Amino acid sequence: MAAYDLERLALLLQGYRKRLNLTKAQLAQRAGISASFVTYIEQGQRRPSLPMLTRLMQALDLTDSEKRGLLRAAGYHSLGELTPCLSDLSEQLAELPQPERDELLEEFSRMIGRWRELRRKRVRRVVIPIAGWQPRLLSPEQLGKMLRPALEETALAGLTEVVLVLAPGKSVPLLKLPRGLKVRTVVQEPQLGLGHAILTTHGVVGDEPFAVILPDDILLGEGRECLRQMLTLYERYRCSMLAVTEVEGAADLKNYGVAHLGDPLAENVYLVQGLQEKPTRGRRSGLTIVGRYVLTPQVFEALQATTPDKNNEIQLTDALNLLLRRQRISAFVYRAQLFRVTPIKMLLEQLIDALDESHPERLEQAMQITKEALQALTALRA
Ligand code: G1P
Repeated sequence: MAAYDLERLALLLQGYRKRLNLTKAQLAQRAGISASFVTYIEQGQRRPSLPMLTRLMQALDLTDSEKRGLLRAAGYHSLGELTPCLSDLSEQLAELPQPERDELLEEFSRMIGRWRELRRKRVRRVVIPIAGWQPRLLSPEQLGKMLRPALEETALAGLTEVVLVLAPGKSVPLLKLPRGLKVRTVVQEPQLGLGHAILTTHGVVGDEPFAVILPDDILLGEGRECLRQMLTLYERYRCSMLAVTEVEGAADLKNYGVAHLGDPLAENVYLVQGLQEKPTRGRRSGLTIVGRYVLTPQVFEALQATTPDKNNEIQLTDALNLLLRRQRISAFVYRAQLFRVTPIKMLLEQLIDALDESHPERLEQAMQITKEALQALTALRA
């Protein structure tokens, strides 16, 4: 990415605004962006996206050379300006000994080829990990039930293949598959966290972009559109994308991955500046990662390079932070209703249902399931 100078950008923008006697709010209104965003840019705290800068430039009636200056300060170079860099590069290449030059050129054309291919490839698959210690407590029937909303969301999104990541020795869930969906399974062994579960699917997913649904984040009603909307956005921006939602209260933040967002790309879509997995201190509100992702295949390299956390787990969030050094990642702010369901909660709900309906046989069944779950939990934790 080209270098940028936010301080210079701030000065330029402020100068051009004052030249027109506009307040920040007036400029923001002319450009159709929020006044606080103008303030952030003028404080040198934010780098506007290219479409946003273009709107600002239009609102400020700039000359061509003023526009070029502003674009350069924000790190957006025109193709014309790139040409001298490229000829510089080719001169330097010409000075290299033949084998090294060939190697570099080969690497360069491989990178461009991969980029072109990625732009062509569409998302076909969704990876659904169910090898965590909670799904492991469920029977194939219960897993099938838990997966139903995720499968419906997958079908709505127009995907054709589900890759289930299972724990060793677990049988395949009993699934009612929506028409047109086929299922493949991979076994995650050893169990080293969500990132490792995704890495296990590399052989099946290959060099293609793919989606991920964490099925214990259940999106009902309108929420089932979440992945479909993300895929439409992926077609446009061609970068990894994760769904985020706003939560209040530190208690919740420390149970999830937290996203720090930068410039907007579109309504409800922002560039990600950084991610943090289950932060234990600090913020009291923020945006947490919902279990919906669209990932470019380079995430596999990032996962391979990710250091396990203190529990020896490879976190997807940490891998995405690594990926962020190479590629942009965006966040889709998801606003419909979300249920974060854990199987333990499901069991309790069954128990409460049974109590409500006062059917002795159902109550007994529910008690039995709860007892088994507790035993399994104790065994797993031992
Ligand atoms: C995982 C992710 C976390 C995300 C969460 C959503 O955590 O690591 O970033 O916020 O799913 O449900 P887990 O639920 O596996 O602890």
